[in-house]
Amino acid sequence: MPVNATHAMFPDAWHDEQSRQHFIRSLKVHIAQDVMPGNKTLFDGPVQTRFRKTHGRGIETRKEIREELGKEPYNQLWGSMLRTSQEMLYDTVRPSIERQLPDLNQKAKKFSGKNGSLRLNPDLAMPRYHTAVDIHSKPGAYHTNVTDEGDMVAGAEYDRTIHLYFMGQAGPNNDDMGVSTGTWFKQRFPNFKPKRILDMGCTVGHASVPYVDHFPGAEVHAIDVAGPCVRYGHHRAEALGKAVHFSQQNAEHTDFPDGYFDLITSHLMFHETSVKASRAIVKECYRLLAPGGIMLHADAIGRGEIYSKYFVEWNAHNNAEPYLGTMQDEDWKAISTTAGFDPKSYFEDAAPSAYVARSDRGEGKGFGQYNVFGAVK
Ligand SMILES: C[S@@+](CC[C@H](N)C(=O)[O-])C[C@H]1O[C@@H](n2cnc3c(N)ncnc32)[C@H](O)[C@@H]1O
Repeated sequence: MPVNATHAMFPDAWHDEQSRQHFIRSLKVHIAQDVMPGNKTLFDGPVQTRFRKTHGRGIETRKEIREELGKEPYNQLWGSMLRTSQEMLYDTVRPSIERQLPDLNQKAKKFSGKNGSLRLNPDLAMPRYHTAVDIHSKPGAYHTNVTDEGDMVAGAEYDRTIHLYFMGQAGPNNDDMGVSTGTWFKQRFPNFKPKRILDMGCTVGHASVPYVDHFPGAEVHAIDVAGPCVRYGHHRAEALGKAVHFSQQNAEHTDFPDGYFDLITSHLMFHETSVKASRAIVKECYRLLAPGGIMLHADAIGRGEIYSKYFVEWNAHNNAEPYLGTMQDEDWKAISTTAGFDPKSYFEDAAPSAYVARSDRGEGKGFGQYNVFGAVK
């Protein structure tokens, strides 16, 4: 089955490129479904037993689980496979995107400015948490242009790589998160009808576009620090016929006026920021919301037993996601309260995945759920 989305901006893949991409996706499914569970067996058995013998208690922290599992050759093999598959992911997709950049530019002319808009800011200072690492091993991270005049390579690459990274579990248009969080939101706040919505850290708008359908008639904005991603995101949304207003901005301090939005969302943004930035962003949400407005954030926050934090902890140390571990220990209620939100309005929940039942053969089994938190102004 071809690895494809349903919109016309989606980068093409020739037969051999499709084949290589299929291999990566299958390898990732194999690592996740066949190899990863062995870590849990080790953790529950010999690793905990050994730790209890020396410490008189079970493993309690992210650091302990990483260090103790890391002593196991099986775990080292799994980690090596996962890291290698991540590097192969970009090695496989990037050349295919770069060779078709002229075609993408041609297509972009057709899908431009009819429904929504695009504002780029080439002078925007990139935060250090973006420039210091190639985030999740993506060469040049999200923000790096490959041509002097600016381009959309990093965004187009993201559209294809995320489909492989998620093993197809986010649906053909990688929009499961936005579909699922919006569906959850409408059930939780059935009478809330936002007129203006902002999706922060939108990358190419996978989660922003579904909000156009969740709230017909609302004005949907989407921001990201990464120029190549909002550029591609704009053309992608236009190809899908959806009105989204993209702009290249830092969510820590945007140029929107006070009280401009009724609903502010983010999907997997916080774990790619820093301790300081996350606080500034929640404050910015408070400033940007109208009274009665709501912020809704989804991120990879492990809840429950300590093993639920192992995968994110491993990624923090081995896949250039520096804040992904630290964010697990953050008190999001306290951060929201400090920003001005009423602690009584704070909520945490899990939005069920809309595509759980849709994954086909060779793909993953669906995400199950997305952990969300938020508050009302
Ligand atoms: C994992 S991606 C988010 C995925 C996206 N929300 C989706 O639904 O597909 C994280 C994004 O957050 C963006 N980001 C991180 N810090 C930011 C900030 N301070 N302001 C705006 N965007 C930011 C990154 O550039 C990156 O595109």
